[in-house]
Amino acid sequence: MMATGPVRVLVRADEPGPTIPPALHGQFVEHLGAGVYGGIWVGEDSRIPNAHGIRRDVVEALRRLHVPVVRWPGGCFADRYHWRDGVGERSRRPRRVNTSWGDAPEPNAFGTHEFMEFAELIGAAPYLNANVGTGSPEEAAEWTAYLTSDGTKEADLRRRNGRDRPWRLPYLGFGNEPWGCGGPMSASAYAARYRQFAAAVGPLPATWRIAAGASGDDPAWTRTLMAEAAPHFDALTVHQYTLPTGDWAAKGAARSFGEDEWISTIAACLRMDAVVRTHATVMDAHDPGRRVALAVDEWGTWYDPEPGVDPATLRQPNGIRDALVAAITLGVFHAHADRVRMANVAQLVNVLQAMILTHDDGIVLTPTYHVFEMYRRFQGARALAVEADTPVYRHGRWAVPAVLASAALTLDGRMLLALVNTRPSDELEVTAEVPGGMASSTGVGRARGRVLSAPRLDSVNDVDSPDAVVPAPLGRRLRARPGGLRVDLPPRSVAVIELAWPDRTVMPPASSGGSAARPPSSVRTPWSV
Ligand code: AHR
Repeated sequence: MMATGPVRVLVRADEPGPTIPPALHGQFVEHLGAGVYGGIWVGEDSRIPNAHGIRRDVVEALRRLHVPVVRWPGGCFADRYHWRDGVGERSRRPRRVNTSWGDAPEPNAFGTHEFMEFAELIGAAPYLNANVGTGSPEEAAEWTAYLTSDGTKEADLRRRNGRDRPWRLPYLGFGNEPWGCGGPMSASAYAARYRQFAAAVGPLPATWRIAAGASGDDPAWTRTLMAEAAPHFDALTVHQYTLPTGDWAAKGAARSFGEDEWISTIAACLRMDAVVRTHATVMDAHDPGRRVALAVDEWGTWYDPEPGVDPATLRQPNGIRDALVAAITLGVFHAHADRVRMANVAQLVNVLQAMILTHDDGIVLTPTYHVFEMYRRFQGARALAVEADTPVYRHGRWAVPAVLASAALTLDGRMLLALVNTRPSDELEVTAEVPGGMASSTGVGRARGRVLSAPRLDSVNDVDSPDAVVPAPLGRRLRARPGGLRVDLPPRSVAVIELAWPDRTVMPPASSGGSAARPPSSVRTPWSV
């Protein structure tokens, strides 16, 4: 059914905002369920085609996503992980159990060298998370030396283990959820411990040092960390998951849910905007120049385990609802690119809101994968403010915007417009206006786009139906009009449109923050009703 009247979206292409850091589209891998073993690592003797034990099908799919950064080895696992267990001759590595996740066997076959090779194969920057919970400052310093130094005993060990040159280490985190599985510690206790770790590791000019941050919108944690340790870190994290019910004891079903849990999930994921604003406001008070980045290094949907699935594996189906959560959340990050400069969806393969689900005979690309692929051109583009005159979609006690939008200008002179229709059964007509930009005959005529939708609210891609939710060309749903364009958005859909910029203006990159940078103008986009 077509809802009444077009939805008007105004794209402020005349006011380019900050550069969208590619790292906002980052990923997270943890030793958890089949996140590593089976999902990435199958071993050299596997019948599954592999490169030195790493699955080729997964690598090939991930290369198409342009993954900017990948975080490893956890998560909660990071605060139980001792890096020396995972280097050297594989057959001699100690076998342990993963006490963070159901006491699963941990063969340590996938360690530092394997992870660094995996990151290199998919073209992503590595983000390592050091053990603060059960590790020591010395252990973290030695790991860093193992990775990045020359002329040290750790570098000699690395060479004996087969890697001559030091690696580049762009991101190094200290601990994970120190208020929970990585502690529990008070914010002050963690700040003191963080300073010890940072001092032991020493200055790392080419590495972001990352402090572990708050859960959701807990500004007190951020306030304490900013007051007591900010000079020693480049980024502070926050974790924010999307639960349909908001209740950790009964999160909501991954399949066979109704409209209540459709809209409550959309509303829950929109909370990311408030969470980011809360922390950004606290950070602004301590760091008005925005030197320190906010890194949302865990986010995504989290459902109740399906019957028959080991709850410690966190494997869950992935459907059109997850696709909307991914699209909306990436849009929130784009709009806050002046402070949020890294984000890592949880998790890459087989765990929570995964890009890929593996099985004995191959892989399934999830609807979330398709959104990351459709959005990849936003990486490095300049964010544009979007003013959407959107109707409100209401159901039960919930109300969310019916249309959410994110726009950007690419460095090669294209305008990107992403649109999300949150309504479960109404097609929406959207008119996008681009002041001063799109009246040219050469401009809008060269628009093209794709749309991701699905037959049902709970449609998923799985082994039996791997292509239930795949992007399709917008085709005649996209039409030029003077000064902009018109799109018919199917119900429950995500669309990304790319337009040639009429005069082929190539936009200069804007600073995305940092100490030398003037704070860029912010991007106004409505995320709430
Ligand atoms: O992503 C799964 C878990 O969620 C991580 O290990 C932990 O950091 C968070 O609680």
